[in-house]
Amino acid sequence: MSTKIAPSLLAADFGNLQRDVEMVNQSDADWHHIDVMDGVFVPNISYGMPVVKAIAKHATKPLDVHLMIVDPDRYIKTFAELGADVLSVHYEACTHLHRTLQAIKAEGMKAGVALNPHTSVSLLEDTIQDIDVVCLMSVNPGFGGQSFIENTYEKVRQLKAIIQRKGASTLIEIDGGVTSLNAKSLTDAGADVLVAGSFVFKSANPTQTIKDLKEIAG
Ligand code: DX5
Ligand code: ZN
Repeated sequence: MSTKIAPSLLAADFGNLQRDVEMVNQSDADWHHIDVMDGVFVPNISYGMPVVKAIAKHATKPLDVHLMIVDPDRYIKTFAELGADVLSVHYEACTHLHRTLQAIKAEGMKAGVALNPHTSVSLLEDTIQDIDVVCLMSVNPGFGGQSFIENTYEKVRQLKAIIQRKGASTLIEIDGGVTSLNAKSLTDAGADVLVAGSFVFKSANPTQTIKDLKEIAG
């Protein structure tokens, strides 16, 4: 299976959001990555439901929604109604992660868990079979355009080992600072999905950049 590429619309031109969503539709990308930030869990506020609704209206590929919000259980149903296909909550924001995962699946979505750079993958040992996607943050969440944290490679290898040992089919997604320079090393380590914001949208030819990234990642 080839590596999935998920352009992060956080780096899109919000004045031309429809154009940028359509660019992703027509590209070799696999998912639309949608970052929702509440200004509490992370220091930044990105966008909320009306913008996600607008994206969903034009998007033709699965919506990969990354919630960087406290107490995400409050909005599981809402994001299902908005058309999310994958809904990722932060491990650090969930008191009852197992319950949250069941609630996401009960709404017909794939359940994702995002881990901050300081959070050990070993904490997912007991829930991995219930998780469809683990989103390993390779920057501290809250902003696009940050530098990739090198320790991520080791976390990917450790997580892959847990997934294999437990016989799970969880995908490993990497989010933050992904470029053509680290894409191959990440997939070699075991990554299945690469999120890329700035690297795609700040490039001269985003469609070509997505194509190149997918080819490099293999
Ligand atoms: C960061 C977000 C990322 C971000 C990635 O908190 O979760 O998805 O958009 O942006 P780049 O690829 O620019 O690091
Ligand atoms: Zn994200």
